[in-house]
Amino acid sequence: MYKNALRLGVMILSLFLTMQSVAAANPVNCSVKSKNQWLWNAYLQPTPNWPERAEHAKEDLQPLPAAKSSLENPKAKLGKKLFHDPNLSADGSVSCASCHKASQHRGDERTVSEGVGRAKGRRNAPMLMNVDLWQSFFWDGRAATLQEQALGPLTDPVEMAHTPEKVVSYLKQNEDYASLWQQAYSDAPKTWSNVADALTIYQQTFRSPANPLDKFIKAVESGDKKAAKEQLNTQQLHGLHLYRTKAGCINCHNGALLSDNKFHNTGLHYFGRRFEDLGRYEVTGNVDDMGRFRTPSLRHVMETKPWMHNGLFTQMEGIIRMYEHGGARPKRPKSLAPEKAYPVTSNLLTPFELSDEEREALMEFLEVL
Ligand code: HEC
Ligand code: HEC
Repeated sequence: MYKNALRLGVMILSLFLTMQSVAAANPVNCSVKSKNQWLWNAYLQPTPNWPERAEHAKEDLQPLPAAKSSLENPKAKLGKKLFHDPNLSADGSVSCASCHKASQHRGDERTVSEGVGRAKGRRNAPMLMNVDLWQSFFWDGRAATLQEQALGPLTDPVEMAHTPEKVVSYLKQNEDYASLWQQAYSDAPKTWSNVADALTIYQQTFRSPANPLDKFIKAVESGDKKAAKEQLNTQQLHGLHLYRTKAGCINCHNGALLSDNKFHNTGLHYFGRRFEDLGRYEVTGNVDDMGRFRTPSLRHVMETKPWMHNGLFTQMEGIIRMYEHGGARPKRPKSLAPEKAYPVTSNLLTPFELSDEEREALMEFLEVL
């Protein structure tokens, strides 16, 4: 009698505990499951049907177009040799590839690059993958074409410190270039403009291979849901969703390059301080451009440290937290005369909140790029 009552008691108790734990686990499981289901349903559609993106993004994310040029092209072959030739610098010590390294997606792991005589510039060398797709060149957009751009590093005293005339006379004297030149330009004279052209055509071969996001987009566009599912995991998909919506990254980092090709102030101008760099303003003289830099591409971003125009950021979590606060918002110095302009952080940057899990998801998505 006593034993049976005890057994019944234990049964009731364990039944009660089981019900409790089911009740505790289920609502969470259920909502995570249905949220994930919702995400997959939403994104396994062609891109125009994806959930509405942050309001200022003119374009959605896109795969890259095919490369304009290949190494089969004799002009690209010539450009490749020029790109790697340190004799294009004043003291024969620095080539384009010294700062744009193949191992760094044609960028530089140093905060700022070092040129002839180990002279330091003030900006971080951007990676050059897909470089032909930019509408303007440099962090401040001061060159309009790649041909024009090449003159910059060549003559910059802290980069190659050389002149077009000296490069041309070096090429004329150097037998190594004779047959490459012949194949590329036949009997056309060796001129700086042809050198810049060959460097441009070589740089047009720098195309990133398709990443899982490109493959995902191509698969959903062609209706192949199974192939799409193989490209991203649920966490990365969640990151993509945050990137396009709440976190607002897509407002500026959009299109195939993951850049809008425009100039924005994220608040990193260091106005009046040691690292001051007013970016686009130094080119246009327009006070609205103070502290604006061209939105960088985020392709390969997890492998192109250090980040930002000055290479001062090495922690991705720090960058995301900066955006969570609505960008950097340095205070206008009190000593600054009221009529003097002070850089204004972009009003596209508004604060938002991410849970730890969401921040992780966003970083996992950046890994995909
Ligand atoms: C001493 C290091 C150094 C050398 C040498 C160098 N670069 Fe650069 N490169 C940089 C830095 C730093 C920047 C960014 C400068 C800026 O934005 O003001 C840059 C920017 C560029 C850009 C613009 C990329 C973009 O996203 O707009 C191109 C293209 C480029 N370099 C190609 C070349 C070529 C071609 C050569 C050789 C003729 C060369 N570089 C030599 C450091 C270097
Ligand atoms: C208002 C436009 C804008 C928005 C929105 C924006 N960015 Fe940026 N981003 C920029 C600009 C401009 C820079 C370069 C700033 C500089 O160097 O001073 C940059 C730089 C970066 C860099 C450094 C890249 C490199 O190669 O140096 C990363 C990483 C980055 N952004 C990620 C994000 C993420 C993640 C989000 C969303 C949370 C985001 N951005 C939202 C404009 C924007």
